[in-house]
Amino acid sequence: MTLLSVKNLVKEFPLDFFGREKLRAVDNISFDIDESKIVSLIGESGSGKTTVGKLILKLLKPTSGQILFHGEDIGKFSKNRKEYYKKVQGIFQDPYSSFNPIYKIDRVFEVVFDEFFPHVKNAQRKEKIEKVLTSVGMNPSQILGKYPHQLSGGQLQRILIARTLLLELNILIADEIISMLDASTRIDILNLLAKIKDKTGMSVIFITHDLSLGYYISDESFIMYRGNIVEMGDTQKVFHNPCHPYTKMLLESIPEIDRKWDFREHIKIETIEDESTGCKYFSRCNVREHRCQKQIPELIEIEENHKVMCFKFYG
Ligand SMILES: Nc1ncnc2c1ncn2[C@@H]1O[C@H](COP(=O)(O)OP(=O)(O)O)[C@@H](O)[C@H]1O
Ligand SMILES: [Mg+2]
Repeated sequence: MTLLSVKNLVKEFPLDFFGREKLRAVDNISFDIDESKIVSLIGESGSGKTTVGKLILKLLKPTSGQILFHGEDIGKFSKNRKEYYKKVQGIFQDPYSSFNPIYKIDRVFEVVFDEFFPHVKNAQRKEKIEKVLTSVGMNPSQILGKYPHQLSGGQLQRILIARTLLLELNILIADEIISMLDASTRIDILNLLAKIKDKTGMSVIFITHDLSLGYYISDESFIMYRGNIVEMGDTQKVFHNPCHPYTKMLLESIPEIDRKWDFREHIKIETIEDESTGCKYFSRCNVREHRCQKQIPELIEIEENHKVMCFKFYG
């Protein structure tokens, strides 16, 4: 079942005071997210990933296009935001920013009850908090009563994940949530998300600039480049049969463990000043054609559940 549908979504930010010049941070993207799926949004810094997350979380308003949650435009929830936030939540890169340093950890849970379930009594609250902490692999007696600075970044991200379990979420937007953690903690958090997905049917939009994390965790991958999704589909297909020249380039730049300092010859492309009105990847592309400079390719299906935005695949 489709939980979330994004249709022709555009977000422009004004570049100057008068709003004459605009930056298209999100440029006409469409996708569906089904129940119980982990979907990665992968792309380099500035490609528009966080903006997509913020639009879905209603922290920004789209310039045009639509976001449907269970078939309903999320604009409809503006009067009843709580109803939406009971089902859709986000966790971000820096866990420390989600905690107020002067309060004990317990408060992030209390706020959820005060906000969404004020009628739940104290004894019951405590029981539920202990249950969700245990289910993310933590010992409640070692966590509750502590202050944020007494815990590690990995512990705090776990606590934020536990917090979302108090709600019955349909969608969790995880924006670079493990970028600040060390390698061993990263895998634990990824495995935890996968476990929650399997158990609750929640879907995760996993935002990352790191291809290997996307590959590890996701059922589907969307590759973003300058506001476009240039390739999308089944993660196995996107990674094992990458078709867009940008995806190929990204995959070729991953350092391999058995190739220490074995520099590959870099594909040198003369970059043309970006005056093209066509494909945004034109100036960096090594397979570009004449038409790419003036025309924008559409995403086309090259095999089941695998689409690419490149003229090379036009019949
Ligand atoms: N509030 C804003 N005002 C103006 N420009 C913004 C704003 N937020 C993001 N941008 C710009 O939009 C583009 C995409 O940003 P972002 O979505 O944060 O990318 P990513 O998360 O992929 O690094 C960037 O060029 C960024 O500078
Ligand atoms: Mg970002």
